Amino acid sequence: MTDTLIVNAELVNEGRSFHADLRIRDGRIDAIAPSLSARDGETVVDAAGKWLLPGVIDAQVHFREPGMEYKGGFDTEPAAAVAGGVTSFLDMPNTKPPTLDGAALEAKYALAAGRSRANFGFYHGASNDNLDAIARIDPTTTPGLKIFMGASTGNMLVDDPKVLEAMFARCPTPIITHCEDTPMIEAALAAARAKYGDNIPIDQHPKIRSREACMASTRLALGLARRHGTSLHVLHITTAEEIALFDAAPLIDAHGKRKQITAETCVHFLHFARADYGRLGNLIKCNPAVKEASDRAALLRAIAEDRVDVLATDHAPHTWEEKQQPYASAPSGLPLVQDFLVCALQKVADGHFSLPQLVQKICHAPAQRFDIAERGFLREGHCADLTLVDPKGGTLVTRERVLAKCGWTPFEGERFDARVAATWVNGELAWDGERLVGVPNGQRLRYAR
Ligand code: DOR
Repeated sequence: MTDTLIVNAELVNEGRSFHADLRIRDGRIDAIAPSLSARDGETVVDAAGKWLLPGVIDAQVHFREPGMEYKGGFDTEPAAAVAGGVTSFLDMPNTKPPTLDGAALEAKYALAAGRSRANFGFYHGASNDNLDAIARIDPTTTPGLKIFMGASTGNMLVDDPKVLEAMFARCPTPIITHCEDTPMIEAALAAARAKYGDNIPIDQHPKIRSREACMASTRLALGLARRHGTSLHVLHITTAEEIALFDAAPLIDAHGKRKQITAETCVHFLHFARADYGRLGNLIKCNPAVKEASDRAALLRAIAEDRVDVLATDHAPHTWEEKQQPYASAPSGLPLVQDFLVCALQKVADGHFSLPQLVQKICHAPAQRFDIAERGFLREGHCADLTLVDPKGGTLVTRERVLAKCGWTPFEGERFDARVAATWVNGELAWDGERLVGVPNGQRLRYAR
């Protein structure tokens, strides 16, 4: 193991920024102090002018294994993650086969072991007929149960009202929902087909995957969670109306109690809005849809106001060729993990929220929400997952630097002020600011429950 001393950095952690040195020893954060002296054999990194953050935890990704390796895998997508400062990820169950029982979950852990450069956790999936498997979930093996309350890639819709009631009543882990009302979407799609035939314009996407469909489904999930006292996390909120349904309060209150119902939004909803469909077309087609500029403004405010608890990516790669198909055939989802942090930091530079607020949403909150052990904070004794940012280093997004298997990015041509200068995973350098280094050493995440 490499022992490293990072000196002169500005640490950003638990609501504040301060100058300090940080020592990595045996894969853990050994010491944080105003001034530490180098020991024999230590690698010293001078981080003057840079920000040192806890490694980013992306709480929503689709890395595509098993079954869709042509879109992405546990070798390529975690490589893109660490290049972007993301040291851990929580991956979704809409794979082939879907992750619908303990055996499928363990098979995913086995697939990622030894191949992933980032630490990994896997959500358990739901269907209309896997209640028995859900009742048997061991809460130390998964961050939670993902329920598609709206159909999306992989068709894992759960729409039987009795099954939903039973899941919200009995699930032994937090429930994580994709909320969009499928019958409303199907009706809107049929109406668009009647009007446009096979040439539905992409700017109809937010009308088809409508704000009303989001609202109806989110209300249903909140009602179920309130009735059953369920720990509920609603994924990828996209509208101002939905935001208003969530409490503006810290994730953990002054007595250490966590909110029962929490919300997530994703970086693309802070960045893109309806006007971008003209430029980017199907490349920004995703479920739920990118909506209005006024929704984007509400989501940016919701981060500052603590109505949104977690910011993630929903990194969902599809091939370039798949995305070139007509609207109705092009799959939904976009690759985001490599530029997640620099894009989010641009929102800080633009004054939408503070740097400690961002660190709360992308580092601390995923760990707090899903009980991830020993990660997500700069704390002595924690695993040394660290992200070093050069705030003025500059990132010009080009296709050549894309590490995700699909080889494209919706950010192509954009410039962000910041650059990811280095990433450490479990104490080892994984990204040196220019290239991947070392060997995959991502670990299985543990949940302290
Ligand atoms: O746009 C999306 N893509 N939304 C989802 O819910 C699934 C994801 C995917 O897996 O492609």
